Amino acid sequence: MSEAPVRVGALPARWAEGESARFRVTLDGVVRDAFAVRWHGTVHAFVNSCRHQSLPLDFGDGHFFDDAFDAIVCCRHGARFAPGTGECVEGPCRGAFLTALALEERDGALWCTGRRASAPPDTRTDRAPR
Ligand code: FES
Repeated sequence: MSEAPVRVGALPARWAEGESARFRVTLDGVVRDAFAVRWHGTVHAFVNSCRHQSLPLDFGDGHFFDDAFDAIVCCRHGARFAPGTGECVEGPCRGAFLTALALEERDGALWCTGRRASAPPDTRTDRAPR
């Protein structure tokens, strides 16, 4: 299914280091909360859902990093995710990945075009048992 691109914000060069933006994106016909963060000069975007219990990673305030600025942190149980890949490196969903989103610069802005093609396989741990 083709999804319409969503405007995320200004071009990455205009983002301050650590700056974030929250937005919504449609994946497989489902509207999902998402976020983008600038980390080490690159803007990365993910679905805003912890792989542990599918809760948002922030408290709705766009605060995603730990104090050391080396991990995206789930505000509820403290799972830590590598900002570049979305891999959980510490916490109850260790080894699982946030759903990475593709970003594209177009018409003087940054757009999300859907799931990142090179995203790691879906290793969700939050699915209900069948
Ligand atoms: S919901 Fe994030 S670690 Fe549990």
